[in-house]
Amino acid sequence: VSLRPYNTFGIAVKAKAFLSVTTPLQLQKALRLEAYAERFIISGGSNMLLTKDVDALVLHIALKGISIVEETDEAVIIKAMAGENWHELVQWSLARNYGGLENLSLIPGNTGTAPIQNIGAYGVELKDIFVGCEAMEVKTQELVEFSKEDCKFGYRDSIFKNEAKDRYIITSVLLKLTKKDHKLLTFYGAIETELKDMGVVNPTIQNISDAVISIRQRKLPNPKEIGNSGSFFKNPVISKKVFVQFQKEHPNAPFYELPDGQFKIPAGWLIEQCGFKGKRFGDAGVHKNQALVLVNYGDASGMEIWELAMKIKSSVKTSFGIDIQPEVNIIN
Ligand code: EPU
Repeated sequence: VSLRPYNTFGIAVKAKAFLSVTTPLQLQKALRLEAYAERFIISGGSNMLLTKDVDALVLHIALKGISIVEETDEAVIIKAMAGENWHELVQWSLARNYGGLENLSLIPGNTGTAPIQNIGAYGVELKDIFVGCEAMEVKTQELVEFSKEDCKFGYRDSIFKNEAKDRYIITSVLLKLTKKDHKLLTFYGAIETELKDMGVVNPTIQNISDAVISIRQRKLPNPKEIGNSGSFFKNPVISKKVFVQFQKEHPNAPFYELPDGQFKIPAGWLIEQCGFKGKRFGDAGVHKNQALVLVNYGDASGMEIWELAMKIKSSVKTSFGIDIQPEVNIIN
């Protein structure tokens, strides 16, 4: 089976066997198949780089359904199954005027993988609306509940990338959304400008979603047209001491000061300064509008993308003395 349709980078590796599961019971049965002790989990496939054939049973998580599990005059708690497409969930919430997901519009991938890297954009992270999730423990095939605290969320990080890595398969997610007095987050510069350009004075959640969609469409390639996994690297975080020196040498560099006193530098800027923006090496390349995004123009292999990533990483290190780390999961 070719995994090309199942990863947004469009890498054409093969799987030894493939099974799409649509209920937790099917997932449980699949995990008990003795013939396949090795499994590999794939959901939206939007945050992985496959570098070789997968010598395992690929389980495609296609659990579907969205329901309201609790409701007051002010808020709802919704349960979304892992295989629900993230942006379709955002649209579902907007159609009902539930607030909280609007800034996270148009992020590729599925709901069940959103907690793994604590997806975030335009001033909001999943953790801001997250209540908990349910996951199947691979070893026991039992469903386990995780609270928000259990998930240990950080910047593009959670327990599922660390201690719990490969031990659980997230089956559903609980999110708390507002029904009125929505807290609109428009302070992120690009959103403010976009709303102004749209002529919006008193924005609704739908307006914010529209603004985010238009910014993203301008900057980020559509994975249906050009293979990619969004930001390939995380934005590096440096100490105040390192930052002071960095700023002396690069007074024009953009930065964000973090609440803990450290500084985050946009990796896209560092990569652009190194001359990679818009560059193409065979079918592997760096997106022309956002240097943080690596793209597959068609037939690049995972290794070719990886080699380009390593070239970029070492160039940034040489030019700025700063280490940048991949955000996507590298499968090798
Ligand atoms: N920049 C450049 N050149 C570039 C790209 C960016 O100079 O090619 C500089 C610009 O100064 C720009 C600044 O970097 O103002 C920030 O760029 P942008 O607003 O596009 O955000 P980012 O820091 O590059 C992060 C997330 C994105 C998210 C945006 C908006 C990470 C790794 N990436 O990118 O997330 O959409 O902020 O909130 O934190 C993703 O994770 O896949 C993703 C797309």
